[in-house]
Amino acid sequence: MKCRITVIKGDGIGPEIVAEAQKVLDKIALKFGHVMEYTDILMGGASIDACGVPLTEEAIETAKAADAVLMGSIGGNTSTSPWYKLAPNLRPEAGLLRLRKELNLFANLRPAYLYEELAKACPLKEEISSQGFDMLIMRELTGGLYFGERKTVTENGITKAIDTLTYSEEEIRRIAIKGFDVARKRKKKVTSVDKANVLDSSRLWRKIVEEVAKDYPDVALEHMLVDNCAMQLVKDPAQFDVILTENMFGDILSDEASMVTGSIGMLSSASLNDTKFGLYEPSHGSAPDIAGMDIANPIATILSAAMMLRYSFDLDREADAIEAAVKQVLQENFRTGDIMSEGCTKVGCSQMGTLIADRI
Ligand code: IPM
Ligand code: MG
Repeated sequence: MKCRITVIKGDGIGPEIVAEAQKVLDKIALKFGHVMEYTDILMGGASIDACGVPLTEEAIETAKAADAVLMGSIGGNTSTSPWYKLAPNLRPEAGLLRLRKELNLFANLRPAYLYEELAKACPLKEEISSQGFDMLIMRELTGGLYFGERKTVTENGITKAIDTLTYSEEEIRRIAIKGFDVARKRKKKVTSVDKANVLDSSRLWRKIVEEVAKDYPDVALEHMLVDNCAMQLVKDPAQFDVILTENMFGDILSDEASMVTGSIGMLSSASLNDTKFGLYEPSHGSAPDIAGMDIANPIATILSAAMMLRYSFDLDREADAIEAAVKQVLQENFRTGDIMSEGCTKVGCSQMGTLIADRI
């Protein structure tokens, strides 16, 4: 099979971690007889430096023409980088938000899984971490506060800023369907997270989710308020299967969920539309403080590449092979610094990539 992949290396540790994911994909191509065709585009800070904008029209067209996009990470230090002196619509993140919208990537899947091998890196009490957990956050990605009208105005000498949170029933329905579909392939439980005790958008969310649930009698549905969910994630993460939630809540809860897995460096993500097309990126940021030092953890990006094979190319065996290789390397006690624990062998970013590729 020929896989046409647009690659966004991005900023900070992005180029290093993407190189390792490509190393692993190339090994898959060799072993299973596929062709990986990569086309690079710039986005984020790298694009600002080269083209003056965080994403060019040409780059969008290139991404649209591919089967999938593999991305590293974008952005820099928000207090010191010159990119953050630019107008908000010219900053690195604006490129990513634009790409999500242009490609209609409304469904963001963020699995959070506690590897037995990393149980020691989990910051929770042992009585909680020993239960293990395996959840998937289904985050709505093209609506809500992120894309609502916003402005800053000064009236009578007082400045105020306004952001708006809008959801239509169609936007809620399509993400709910994705959530129930994926739950059906997992433990058949959806926890829909909202703030229905305060927000109208959440009350509509709840109503539509309940309507969709009627088509999935085999999947259990529960509703949870977002503040309670934040608490439950550290109190009893094993209770969750699929967490279905809107854009901003999903942004926040997915960082929390990632931390309880031991390291944000382990978490992959897929952003999908209604076709097979997807954008695959680690859930973590660009870690500018450790960029270029060959110490970043490439596993989240490598696992994102596995998600890409699974969701965009239907290559389940190949995706399984990557996931098994990651597990094996962890079982052999190789660790990057972020997941290091006593008695393990510390390796750098490129060595980790090589170890995983070698085990495929
Ligand atoms: C994420 C990131 C982005 C988001 C930023 C970089 C705009 O935090 O993918 O979770 O908030 O969606
Ligand atoms: Mg985030």
